[in-house]
Amino acid sequence: MGAHISASVYTSHVPAIGVAIDSGKTSEPYWEPVFAGYEPSRQWIAENTPDVVVLVYNDHANAFGLDLIPTFAIGTAAHFPIADEGWGPRPIPPVVGHPPLAAHICQSVIQQDFDLAIANELPVDHGLSVPLSLLFGQPDKWPCAVIPIAVNVVQYPPPSGQRCLNLGKAIARSIKSYDDDLDIQIWGTGGMSHQLQGARAGLINAEFDNQFLDDLVANPEALAEMPHTDYVREAGSEGIELVMWLVARGAMGDLAGGKPPAVINRFYHVPASNTAVGHLILDNNPIRE
Ligand code: DHB
Ligand code: FE
Repeated sequence: MGAHISASVYTSHVPAIGVAIDSGKTSEPYWEPVFAGYEPSRQWIAENTPDVVVLVYNDHANAFGLDLIPTFAIGTAAHFPIADEGWGPRPIPPVVGHPPLAAHICQSVIQQDFDLAIANELPVDHGLSVPLSLLFGQPDKWPCAVIPIAVNVVQYPPPSGQRCLNLGKAIARSIKSYDDDLDIQIWGTGGMSHQLQGARAGLINAEFDNQFLDDLVANPEALAEMPHTDYVREAGSEGIELVMWLVARGAMGDLAGGKPPAVINRFYHVPASNTAVGHLILDNNPIRE
């Protein structure tokens, strides 16, 4: 049947969540409600483990710096080491890539006029590893391959929401033309509202976040028109990470004439570190009457 996208997963990537998992603090009172919200997703993914996750995330000046700032980059390597973010690498397994599929997505998406940078070496930071830990826990090795798609949302200017949604559509088309029978999920990570610096540090906007979740499910084409200034004003300087969720949403079949996806889990919690934690899973192949 060829490769197919079975679901999209959306989640914040707060580094302190990784620390809580790595140091066995998930049942402490501060963290217990966060992990309880992900429990249904962990059960769901145990039964719906994909072959490959296309994981859209942002690097936080660990692999890239001010010397080189790709707007979009795809990881084509066989392995991605865990980045040392200043405290040594997290004690988690290395991330295993899928070079043949990554090369296919790369050529197909570039031929669709998206100029991805090609990363043959890419240490991956909390933006990619915390979502893996939230969904898969602490396995000896990750249960699937991962193709990182890095998006610049750290150094101005970020790509628009529309560009991100369209990238997701292009990725979906590329996966449709891959012959091997692979079950693929696409994950959009980062957000929700947070600001880590400046006069508004600590900003949280629950109303904006919940409206974003509503629109992401039901109204993604309209949501894609929101300018980056609205994200920054309403959701804080790091709230702009939410544009990455539009890449994953753009890959769902309803935007290519198929049926709307079905919500498997939706969760929102404040606070975790400095951030509002949001999480959503959309099934791309809902069985309907
Ligand atoms: C926090 C959140 C982030 O998205 C990040 O990249 C770093 C820190 C936080 O809430 O502490
Ligand atoms: Fe971040």
